[in-house]
Amino acid sequence: MQRQNHLLTLKDWDSDRIVETINTAIKLKKELKESGSSSRFRGQTIGMFFEKPSLRTFTTFQVGIHQFGGMPVELDPGSIGLGKRESIVDVARCLSRWVNAIVVRCFEQKLVEQLAEHGNIPVINALTDDFHPCQALAFGQTLLEQKGSFAGQTIAFIGDGNNVANSLMILAAKLGMNFTLACPKGFEQDSALIEWAQPWFNKHGTKYRVFNNPQDAVKDATVLYGDVWVSMGQESQKDSKQSHFLPFQINRELLDLAPSECKISHCLPANRGEEITDEIMDDLKVNWAFEEAENRLHAQKAVLWQLMQPSF
Ligand code: CP
Ligand code: NVA
Repeated sequence: MQRQNHLLTLKDWDSDRIVETINTAIKLKKELKESGSSSRFRGQTIGMFFEKPSLRTFTTFQVGIHQFGGMPVELDPGSIGLGKRESIVDVARCLSRWVNAIVVRCFEQKLVEQLAEHGNIPVINALTDDFHPCQALAFGQTLLEQKGSFAGQTIAFIGDGNNVANSLMILAAKLGMNFTLACPKGFEQDSALIEWAQPWFNKHGTKYRVFNNPQDAVKDATVLYGDVWVSMGQESQKDSKQSHFLPFQINRELLDLAPSECKISHCLPANRGEEITDEIMDDLKVNWAFEEAENRLHAQKAVLWQLMQPSF
């Protein structure tokens, strides 16, 4: 597979590149703790285009770019009017003349793909309706740090077959882990994506499974993963979705059905009392969500390093 100089979805990255990025993230984390910031990206500017709200992704990209000696430039979607005030092609061409990369959080996956197609700088997907690759890389880093290996892991995603579930499933497919989705009927992942992933699961001898109840899904899980039931942009579906998802809460009773070494993670933000209880959120012996949030910083710096290194 030819190395594409973007991170649009982890589907495009081969397994070696994913592992290399996770290992780089672990090295950068150690380096930051031991020697502080570096000046690797001095003189580099990185555009940040966010159409949806964000705490973690926005902050960690900004902080990471600063720690590398570069400068993030916030691009205001309201003012740019992408595809309305100006065509995507022209915006991509202009940005390519000024900044060294762009980090994009938007609704349609097509938009990050179009920016990548029409510009000539790396484009990083910071969450779309379909994928959240930076989250999956930070999860991979956390998993490796906490469990020491990808082999033998079974990730049970409890909730909607959404963007985060998709990226975690791709990570599992590429790195040889089992992936289980527990969701109400009708909220499964896109069948084309499952079809794409199946040869990867076959290659590694791992399993992709779907259950319509969380109890069966957790039985052999090594990590339970949670996310909001209603993703950004789906606010109008809140009432109908919530009624379907009520039985799919990560709580002590569910965790007790899983093997004793099973841990919990969540991409955050969490709706405490909905998809995950307060008690589990605050049990920091089993809940890795804050380690994973910390690792967003290191994993994304490793992504920038992967994509921008050739330009030095
Ligand atoms: N997990 C995550 O992407 O968080 P934000 O939406 O706050 O960036
Ligand atoms: N699925 C969630 C993830 C938030 C980080 C959303 O898209 O809103």
